[in-house]
Amino acid sequence: MSATLVTGIGELVTNVTPDGMPGGRLAAIAGAALVIEGEHVAWAGPADRAPAADTVIDAEGRAVLPGFVDSHAHLVFAGERSAEFTARMAGQGYAAGGIRTTVAATRAATDDELRAGIGRLAREMLRQGTTTFECKSGYGLTVKDEARSLALASEVTPEVTYLGAHVVPAEYADDPAGYVDLVCGQMLDACAPHARWVDVFCERGAFDGDSARAILAAGASKGLLARVHANQLGPGPGVTVAVEAGAASADHCTFLTDADVAALASSGTVATLLPGAEFGTRQPYPDARRLLAAGATVALATDCNPGSSFTSSMPFCIAIAVRDMHMTPAEAVWAATAGGARALRRDDVGYLAPGARADLVILDAPSHAYLAYRPGIPLVHAVMTSGLVAWRGR
Ligand code: NIG
Ligand code: FE
Repeated sequence: MSATLVTGIGELVTNVTPDGMPGGRLAAIAGAALVIEGEHVAWAGPADRAPAADTVIDAEGRAVLPGFVDSHAHLVFAGERSAEFTARMAGQGYAAGGIRTTVAATRAATDDELRAGIGRLAREMLRQGTTTFECKSGYGLTVKDEARSLALASEVTPEVTYLGAHVVPAEYADDPAGYVDLVCGQMLDACAPHARWVDVFCERGAFDGDSARAILAAGASKGLLARVHANQLGPGPGVTVAVEAGAASADHCTFLTDADVAALASSGTVATLLPGAEFGTRQPYPDARRLLAAGATVALATDCNPGSSFTSSMPFCIAIAVRDMHMTPAEAVWAATAGGARALRRDDVGYLAPGARADLVILDAPSHAYLAYRPGIPLVHAVMTSGLVAWRGR
C-alpha cells in the first residue's frame, strides 16, 4: 500500500489524548506531519520524526483538522422558503407548520430533481470541510415519499435518518393518532431498510412525548437507533424522551430545565446544538456554557433545511458558537468534529491518529481559531476523504 506524507502542518488538530485515544477535548500538535496509508491515518506526530513515504504533500504551515462531522441535516427537499425568512426578519415568529410548504413541493418533485438538490448541498458541505454528514427524510410524509427520500439520502451518506415524524401532514390534521400509527407501522416497514436512525420532532405543534416514545420504540424494534429534535421552540419533554430512549443525540436543546441539563450530563446522549436555526429564526441561542459546565457532551451541526436554517456551513456554525454562545474556538471545533462523531456513534471519524479514517481539512490559516477569528471567509484550502483529495480550492 502506498503512503502519503502530509508535512509542514502548522497545527494538526488530532483530538486524541497523549496515549492516542479519542479524547473529550481538542488536542493539537504544532509543527506536525501525518502519514496516510490507503483510507486511514497510519501515523501522526512532530514533523521532524515523520517516517518516509512514497508521496509528500507540503501544507506550508497551514492548519489540518479532522473533517467536520455534521450530525444533523435535512437535505432531501424541493423548493425554498426565503419569503418566510424575510418575514421573520421583519418580526414574524417561526412555527413548525411551515414544514408543510416544503412537504408539498417535495411530493411534487421527481427523484432526479431531489437528487440534484441533495448533490448541490452535499458539494457545498464538502467545500466547507464537511466529510461526514447525516441526512434525514421528513418532507415526504407518505409511505412512498418517505421511502424514496431515504433511498436518495442513502446514495450520498450511510448516516440516514427516518423522520416520518417531522410534522403531522395536512391530510391527517383531523387524525394525528392515525398518522402516528402510520409512522410506526406501514411507513416504518417501508423506510427501515434504508435507514440507520429514527428521529422525531418532539415539540408543541409536532409530536408530544407519548407519541415520540411510541415512534422511537417502533423504530428500535426494526433496529433503528434513536435521535430526537428536542426543546427547540420551548420547554417540553423532548430531552427526557431522548435520554430515556438511550438516544445518541438530543438536538437543538434551546429551552432546557435544570433537570434536562442534568439528564444529558449523566447520560450517553449528546446535546447537539444547531445555531443556524436560532440565527434563521431569530431565537435566543442555546446555553452551551451551562451544558459544558454540567459535563454534557456538546456537538455542533448545521440543521441545513429550507425553513429554519438554510446553511450547510460548519465554519459558520463554529463562528456563531464562539461569538454568541461563548464557546472557546477549541470547544467549538471539537464539537464540530469529535462531538459530531459521538452524536453519530462513529469511532472512525472526528479525530486524526493511527486507525482514523483519513478525512481531513487543510485550512488557509495557521490555526483552528481562524474559523471564528475570520468569520465568513472561505478558509478551506483542500479536503481529503478516505485518503484522497476530494476538493481543492485555487
Ligand atoms: O430542525 N425542527 C424541525 N425541523 C427543522 C425545521 C424544518 C423546517 O422548518 O422546514 C429544524 O429546525
Ligand atoms: Fe432539524
